[in-house]
Amino acid sequence: MGYGLLKGKKGIIFGALDHKSIAWKVAERCVEEGAQIVLTNAPVAMRLGEINELAEKLKCEIIPADATSIEDLELLISKSQEILGGKLDFILHSIGMSINVRKKKDYTDLNYEWMKTTFDVSSISFHKVMQTAFKQDALNDWGSVVALTYIAAQRTFPDYSEMAESKALLESFARSFGYHYAKKAHVRVNTVSQSPTVTTAGSGVKGFGDFFGYANKMSPLGNASADACADYCVTLFSDLTRYVTMQNLFHDGGFSSMGMAPEILED
Ligand SMILES: NC(=O)c1ccc[n+]([C@@H]2O[C@H](COP(=O)([O-])OP(=O)(O)OC[C@H]3O[C@@H](n4cnc5c(N)ncnc54)[C@H](O)[C@@H]3O)[C@@H](O)[C@H]2O)c1
Repeated sequence: MGYGLLKGKKGIIFGALDHKSIAWKVAERCVEEGAQIVLTNAPVAMRLGEINELAEKLKCEIIPADATSIEDLELLISKSQEILGGKLDFILHSIGMSINVRKKKDYTDLNYEWMKTTFDVSSISFHKVMQTAFKQDALNDWGSVVALTYIAAQRTFPDYSEMAESKALLESFARSFGYHYAKKAHVRVNTVSQSPTVTTAGSGVKGFGDFFGYANKMSPLGNASADACADYCVTLFSDLTRYVTMQNLFHDGGFSSMGMAPEILED
């Protein structure tokens, strides 16, 4: 059931690949709350994923864009405003990819060209999205930008590999750009640090199944689902959180505050 929290708001959602994607759930919830959205993803995801199905269901348009390409982003942001009939109120960055992780390279034997691609796709793209929107003055006053991240930015999770540094960079961009965007147009910028979630990107990390169970036991509320993450993102896009900015917000059932969980020792 919707509460009308995003009635009249317009936004762009990056990263819905298939029905498991966190961005897929966010897109559904935003529309349920009254928003008009444009979906976008890398051109290759158009062929491999199920995004067309989502666009049909939500009656919205898809604009393909490689989030590392300024040209693609410029086109995406200007066309989205045309389609939606005005400036934007929110953007979700839900993008992550590491070739080193995909190819199961050890952290002590990483390929640096691939590492650059990881940072470009997973982190620098966030700056590129914001800079493009900033230059086009595409966001309304009190708009909201959210990117998804993971606690490996602060603590060591060995199998998360170079994605840890990539998330640290992403979170830093939220703080730094958050300053400039607040000054320009009261736009807030935050990252949401989500529990392990069964998705294509999540399941690509070695030992994901075991780790998912561990995190679930460690978190007093259990792992937060993709649907719950979508609810949280909706609140951050709504007018109810207008003074929250430059934050990394944990959405993890309490995991980040735990030291020791007796439940882990019970097995
Ligand atoms: N799944 C988890 O356990 C988990 C936990 C915390 C944070 N996150 C983060 O959530 C976000 C979404 O991931 P997900 O778990 O929904 O997986 P997902 O695989 O469904 O989404 C990742 C998306 O990134 C897109 N992408 C990759 N390269 C791109 C490019 N060059 N341009 C545009 N888009 C590109 C993919 O097409 C895909 O849609 C990521 O930032 C991820 O790191 C995931």
